[in-house]
Amino acid sequence: MTTNWLVAAGPASNGISHELARNLDAKLLEFEITEYSDGESKIRCSHKVRDQNIALVQSLYPPQSKHLMQLLFVAHKLSEEGAKVDAVVPYLAYARQDKEFLRGEVVSIAAVGKLFRAVGIRRLITINIHSPEGLGLLSFPSYSCSAIPTMAEYICSNFHLSNPIAVSPDFGSSERVEAFAQVMKSDYAVFKKHRDRHTGAVTIEEQNLNLSGRDAIIVDDSISGGGTIVKMTELLKKYGARRVIVTCVHALLAAGVPEKIFKSGVDEIVASNTVPSKYSKVDVSPIISSYYR
Ligand code: R5P
Repeated sequence: MTTNWLVAAGPASNGISHELARNLDAKLLEFEITEYSDGESKIRCSHKVRDQNIALVQSLYPPQSKHLMQLLFVAHKLSEEGAKVDAVVPYLAYARQDKEFLRGEVVSIAAVGKLFRAVGIRRLITINIHSPEGLGLLSFPSYSCSAIPTMAEYICSNFHLSNPIAVSPDFGSSERVEAFAQVMKSDYAVFKKHRDRHTGAVTIEEQNLNLSGRDAIIVDDSISGGGTIVKMTELLKKYGARRVIVTCVHALLAAGVPEKIFKSGVDEIVASNTVPSKYSKVDVSPIISSYYR
């Protein structure tokens, strides 16, 4: 299918830009990217883009700030050359801080939104933003597409599940777990999580559940330090779960975290490819492509 969009490959597009261009039969723009010896990015864009609609793909996985700057640089140049730019940001960093949880904290997603706007970005398309409140803080159109049904399909086709149950470790993921369970044709459980805002320590309220012989699939938007998954898994194992499979959209997985997660009793981790990792098995390109069709 042809489109009137061009696709631009940001340096951290993670292959998604190539797939998007292929799916849409769109021209792919690439850039010359070099680095000064101190790590600063230098980007050259020599394409003629006046009046073109461009979907600029750049995921903001770690190093987040570097990838953010690269996105701003390219968007700035494309806008300056007269293009109309959408930012396609599969993983939108800085979206967790969508309110002042403790007095004086920076609402980072609001600051990032202002930067996007300043370099001429007209719209944002992302995958499973941390919370819809984050989108509400942006002063331009923004859309968060969901990878959850695709992830649930992947789990159903690749695992032989025994009487599965989908599990959300916190109320914030309840919509996600419901969508997941719908595809898996299973029931689901939503737990109440508390995170100490000073220490980061996670506690999850217990429930009266019997999961004997059942496979539990934890559904979350991201895994970072792994504290949430470890606590959730300990409870699921206590309730008798046969296997614990963890699915997350954004596998941020700091160093040593997968080991910690497996040690707690998790059998598998399955993530999407918004963040590269050995667990990033579900491709989000078709989801983004359908947005542009
Ligand atoms: C939090 O509200 C998110 O949905 C995830 O549960 C959280 O980002 C996971 O973080 P961690 O792996 O550090 O516990």
